[in-house]
Amino acid sequence: MDAFVIEGGQRLRGRLRVNGSKNSALPIMAGVLLTDQPVTLRDVPDLSDIRNMVRLLGELGVAIGRETDTEGRPVFCIQTIDERASHARYDIVRTMRASVCVLGPMLARRGRARVSLPGGCAIGQRPVDIHLRGLQALGARISLEDGDIVAEVPGGRLTGATVFLGGANGSTVLGTANVMSAATLARGTTVIECAACEPEIVDLASMLNAMGARIEGAGSPRLTIRGVESLSGVDHTVIPDRIEAGTFMCAAGITDGDLTLDNCPLDALMAATTTLDAIGVSVEPIGSGDDPMRRTCRVRRSGPLKSAPITTQPHPGFPTDLQAQFMALLCVAEGNSVITEKIFPERFLHVAELQRMGASLNRQGATAVVTGVGSLHGARVMASDLRASAGLVLAGLAAEGTTTVNRVYHIDRGYESLEDRISSVGGSVRRVKPEPAPIG
Ligand code: EPU
Repeated sequence: MDAFVIEGGQRLRGRLRVNGSKNSALPIMAGVLLTDQPVTLRDVPDLSDIRNMVRLLGELGVAIGRETDTEGRPVFCIQTIDERASHARYDIVRTMRASVCVLGPMLARRGRARVSLPGGCAIGQRPVDIHLRGLQALGARISLEDGDIVAEVPGGRLTGATVFLGGANGSTVLGTANVMSAATLARGTTVIECAACEPEIVDLASMLNAMGARIEGAGSPRLTIRGVESLSGVDHTVIPDRIEAGTFMCAAGITDGDLTLDNCPLDALMAATTTLDAIGVSVEPIGSGDDPMRRTCRVRRSGPLKSAPITTQPHPGFPTDLQAQFMALLCVAEGNSVITEKIFPERFLHVAELQRMGASLNRQGATAVVTGVGSLHGARVMASDLRASAGLVLAGLAAEGTTTVNRVYHIDRGYESLEDRISSVGGSVRRVKPEPAPIG
């Protein structure tokens, strides 16, 4: 397993382009199962999660070709050529929980689906009960066999219904994606209450609408979906990744750097940029720019780093996927910050690793108190999940000395060539291969 070796203390200066969003691309790719017409997807990032989705779709009868556009960016040409398969196997699902987003599209179009039940993961239990409840409300018959969700639609076509998709921690993003996608081909009208409002849902809805779906209300907690007979092909560009953008913003702040970010989805980052402002990191849009999801902005400190309270919430609240990165930043800010995790209350595996770098952290249940220290020091640390790993990389960039982040395959799931991109703006991050085990 590869590791990153980071020499801390370099200020990041320069320009980075924010890539297409992983969490938008994954349900969008699954949505392709809703049609047998050709689909072109642009700005899909080159990540291991995306490669796993390509593999999964391949097993489900979807042909995917990869080209590059005139600016060298990836273009996926996708078409379903065989609709007989319906099994998303454990081997793939266990590597990527987002595989569950093929469930709704397959049920809607093929009338049946067998998807391995995703297990728990490093950030918590992550059940899919709400996905199943929503699909059952549309008429799917669902059972559990040998660890697989086995679902079928009596009569072959789902039926619109009014469904409530709220849970103990609010709405569900992939649950909304699943039920919304399925409802596009249902007979009659579906109303989803307590729908996730995340920008990734808006992106999926806008692609499905361009394919002929009739979805209203995307971005609000109530979606109305009028079912249609079939969907056509589409040419769609994935929105930029708000979590990657927020991670780069924290990188500029923690290294006292000066980064210009292109293709930055500022409109989706209000909670993060408002918090950055309170911490002492300014995010200044440059130029007028027509599209608030694709702006250019300059990120640098506006003064000494200060403490700030953070509570993660569903969008438009502060995103859980930026909690670890902001924790790293607050570790070197003046004063005490209280961070409360309301989406995944166990998502604190980075706490013990940051402590190994000299951070002063005190976790009680779903809350961590960060007491700013003057500086962190390099250490060997272990990546545990994607965003925790990103937090450790940020801490390493700011730390005195050398930090080795082991198990960076977690980072490769969600950040494309992170070491090269950080190095291109002055950071020192090297990927190293694991040392071979001693013989004998
Ligand atoms: N939940 C249930 N039952 C369900 C579904 C969710 O109780 O059936 C709970 C979860 O346990 C959690 C809350 O609802 O407490 C919200 O989970 P959600 O379903 O929204 O998470 P998700 O859709 O599985 C996506 C992202 C995550 C991101 C969360 C929250 C993708 C592929 N994943 O997961 O991204 O943290 O929304 O915003 O879109 C990441 O990129 O690192 C990542 C983990």
